[in-house]
Amino acid sequence: MSAELELSEVCVTRGGFEVVTDVDMVVPLGEITVLLGANGAGKTTLLEAISGVVDTKSGQIALDGLPIESMRRNARARRGLAHVEQGRAVFADLTTEENILAAAPSGSFERALELFPALEPRRDVRAGLLSGGEQQMLVLARAIVSDPKVLLLDEISLGLAPSIIQDLMPVIRRLGDSGIAVLLVEQFAALALAIGDSAYVLSRGSVVFNGTCKELGDQPKLLQGAYLAGSTDATDRTSTND
Ligand SMILES: Nc1ncnc2c1ncn2[C@@H]1O[C@H](COP(=O)(O)OP(=O)(O)OP(=O)(O)O)[C@@H](O)[C@H]1O
Ligand SMILES: [Mg+2]
Repeated sequence: MSAELELSEVCVTRGGFEVVTDVDMVVPLGEITVLLGANGAGKTTLLEAISGVVDTKSGQIALDGLPIESMRRNARARRGLAHVEQGRAVFADLTTEENILAAAPSGSFERALELFPALEPRRDVRAGLLSGGEQQMLVLARAIVSDPKVLLLDEISLGLAPSIIQDLMPVIRRLGDSGIAVLLVEQFAALALAIGDSAYVLSRGSVVFNGTCKELGDQPKLLQGAYLAGSTDATDRTSTND
């Protein structure tokens, strides 16, 4: 598998503090790479640095072998990078279909339906009236119809019922199987690890685990540490695997 997205020694500062430190990461085509870590670990910041929402302080980000860290956000998007940001909302006053068309060329609503048939009966409904799950499907569909090579997903399950999250995960797996490189930040670690290929754990901005999802799933202590690391000294209990 080729590495569609590759990070080397990426550092990012926020408010004068370094919140992402020396991150190396490989996100291959056709795979789902899961990124876990406690609140404040730096997951969102890392995704924002990849898509160009924030600047990097140092390090390289390569998309299909080409350095992109100095490019503007829309130039990165044109090269195939799509980012579903944490807490991203729909355009409430537009219909479901209009939300899709605002993101991609006409006729693409049918493509969105292939992934989310549940949106069909909601086609002409204002997006603000959709359920939380339907809105999140719409947010995801908007990113997908832009035909990305790399898809960054930041906690798309936030605020959704567990049953809906369980329905969303296989869709993400299918995106990976269709050849997209997916970088998935997800609070429900077990669900993400069940559909993912490789995993990274961030603790205070640094990678403390890099391996397969199965390896991480088999290490409950490390997994638990990933969620405590922000508020306690759990970094001492997590081990580096590289
Ligand atoms: N706009 C900002 N200005 C200053 N500091 C920020 C800003 N956004 C985030 N931070 C800080 O950067 C660090 C990393 O935050 P980030 O949101 O990337 O973590 P996260 O892993 O995504 O957390 P969560 O699981 O809560 O979404 C935190 O210490 C946070 O307080
Ligand atoms: Mg976040």
